[in-house]
Parts: sequence; structure tokens; C-alpha cells
Amino acid sequence: MTNVLGIYGSPRQNGNTQILVDECLKGANSYGSVTINKIIINNLNITPCQECSNMPDDGVCIINDDMSLVYKRIQTADIIIMGSPIFFGSISAQSKIMIDRFQCLWRWKYQINKLINTNTKKGAFICVEASERQDFIENAKLIIKNFFATVDAGYAGELICKNAGLKAAVLKKPDCLKKAYELGQMLVKD
Ligand SMILES: Cc1cc2nc3c(=O)[nH]c(=O)nc-3n(C[C@H](O)[C@H](O)[C@H](O)COP(=O)(O)O)c2cc1C
Repeated sequence: MTNVLGIYGSPRQNGNTQILVDECLKGANSYGSVTINKIIINNLNITPCQECSNMPDDGVCIINDDMSLVYKRIQTADIIIMGSPIFFGSISAQSKIMIDRFQCLWRWKYQINKLINTNTKKGAFICVEASERQDFIENAKLIIKNFFATVDAGYAGELICKNAGLKAAVLKKPDCLKKAYELGQMLVKD
């Protein structure tokens, strides 16, 4: 059973990120036996990283909030589908707050234990923006790749959807919807 995790980084319900991540999950679900979990970051209570000076060396964050569910879901996921809109040339604040909270794992893995990435998981990035700014997309990708590497997910695919500013604009972009669906299939199949 392949464990697929969809992470929604937009605050807009039924918006472009949600539609595309849902489509990708549908594609994944159409292919073999999968378990699907979803995390809507905006619905969770997540404190931004506090750079705690008493951070323990075990890779576990000491802040007690809804990140405990995120850590659990990431740990058990085989495939992570991370969706975020471009906000001011980067990923959304929701996405960044979640990612920053993996600093404890980053420190445990790279600084304390000097481990390398195992790429035992697969990660795919779904990104949507109103404009056609490739530099914004590249900026977002760098952050997501860094996040994926930290959680041992190889960068296995992406769907970039430009020119989609209005709510649910992607519904009028059948090529994007199709690519999202196919991305989900590809992630489970390969
Ligand atoms: C705070 C904010 C900042 C944004 N910044 C950018 C930007 O820098 N470049 C861009 O192309 N679109 C920008 N947008 C537009 C969103 O990327 C676009 O509307 C996208 O479809 C939102 O996805 P969603 O429907 O999943 O929330 C911004 C939107 C918001 C709300």
C-alpha cells in the first residue's frame, strides 16, 4: 500500500492549489492501492519556528502544537504532493511556517549525524501563480527542494501553472488539470 500525502499551502478554499492537488491525488488514487492523507496547513495551529536555544539533539521539536500531526504524516508518507501558490515571489506564508518547523530534523540529520539524503520518499511540487514569472517559480522550487531533501524525499515531479490568478481559474485550464492528474499517476506508477 502506497501512502500518499497531499499538503495544501494556500489559505483559499476551493482555490487553484486545492483543485490541482486534489486532481493529482485523484490520479494517484486511480493507480493501484494507495492510502491518501491530506494536510490543509491553514486549518492547523502552527507556531512559527522560535529558534529555541534549548533545542534537543533528537530531531524532535519541543513546541507542542498541530505540527505533531504533520511530522507523523510526513514520516509515514511514501509520496508527498506539496501545493503552494506564489505569494510575493515565494511560497505562501502557510507553507513556509510549516517548512521552517523542520529545522529540528535538518539539524539532527545534517549537523549532528552528518547524514545524507536517502530519497526513500518521492516529492512533487504543485505551484500556481497569477503572473508568468519563472524567477518566482525557481525561488519557490529551491525552498521546496530543500524541504523535500530534509525529509528524504527526492524531487520526483512538478506541475507549474502560470496565468492563474482568479479563484478556481485552473478549472478553465484543462491542460493543467490533466497534467496534475497524470503527475499523480506517474508518482504511484514509477
Ligand atoms: C498575498 C498574495 C501575494 C501574491 N503574490 C503573487 C506574486 O508575487 N506573483 C504572482 O504571480 N501571483 C501572486 N499572487 C497571486 C496568486 O499566486 C494566485 O492568485 C494564485 O492563483 C493563488 O492560488 P490559490 O487559489 O490556490 O490560493 C499573490 C496572491 C496573494 C493573495
